[in-house]
Amino acid sequence: MVDNNLYRLYHGLMLPKIAHTDESLNYLQNFQVKDDDTFAVTYPKSGTTWMQEILPPLLNGGDLTSVQTIPNWDRVPWLEETQAPVLLDKLPSPRAIVSHMPCHLMPSSFFNSKAKVIYVARNPKDVLVSSFYFHKMANFLEDPGTFEEFTDKFLSGKVLFGKWTDHVKSWRNPELADRILYITYEEMLQDLREVLGRILNFLGRELSADALDRVVNNSTFKNMKTNTMSNYSLVPDVVLDQKKSNFLRKGIAGDWKNHFSPELNAKFTSVIQEEMKGSNIKFSWDNE
Ligand code: A3P
Repeated sequence: MVDNNLYRLYHGLMLPKIAHTDESLNYLQNFQVKDDDTFAVTYPKSGTTWMQEILPPLLNGGDLTSVQTIPNWDRVPWLEETQAPVLLDKLPSPRAIVSHMPCHLMPSSFFNSKAKVIYVARNPKDVLVSSFYFHKMANFLEDPGTFEEFTDKFLSGKVLFGKWTDHVKSWRNPELADRILYITYEEMLQDLREVLGRILNFLGRELSADALDRVVNNSTFKNMKTNTMSNYSLVPDVVLDQKKSNFLRKGIAGDWKNHFSPELNAKFTSVIQEEMKGSNIKFSWDNE
């Protein structure tokens, strides 16, 4: 049962009502994508906030002013959220925009544009753990219940933006060809500089070695945690209670090992493997 007070259904996907209105979803459908727009698309808890830190300086020649003075949700707005109509039309180009939408729910202008997409995937086991703690601290979401209960909801897609497997598969749309770059949260953790180099190359941009170092340094977990424009401390406790769990919580790969029993791990792995079968999508964590 979907809690109608907290969630709305949009094309079968559960979206939090606090951030999605009829107006914002209409705006999404009719949004006019520009050729020089860059989208960072994620399934929730896969590195969205990290991309909001990284993209502005990569697009503007390495200037960190916006990440130090403008909250992440204003500097790289969500395409589908309530503030989109207010923010996006005023945002100077080249715009960086984030979205959790599956590919088929992107506005039609997106498919007729040359706009680029960076799709960030994360090990779904760590996505689940991160989401579990997020549900504990976000007062606009229902209590996740036990970890096992929340795992069942996650696997059946009764969570924000539906099933992880559907999301990942939707963005392997061959129509996008070289307009999309696939990266993972784990690659960013392992070697952020290398991934930023790939993103710059994909976007046809360059930064000096010094400027790139500064972007890397600014977007480490440690430094983002102290950046009030990025750590969500500007959001009141009644909305996001960081006394329960920090938004920037652990920032590691493999925390799932502290949460999954062997039985739960076997069940989770077999459901995900079954749903990914035949997709030809391979991830570094497939055999974990
Ligand atoms: P954890 O809860 O596992 O710590 P999103 O922004 O999509 O909601 O994802 C949030 C997750 O990304 C959180 O994961 C958060 O800590 C992590 N994250 C954000 N910035 C990060 C960074 N610079 N380095 C590592 N992890 C980061």
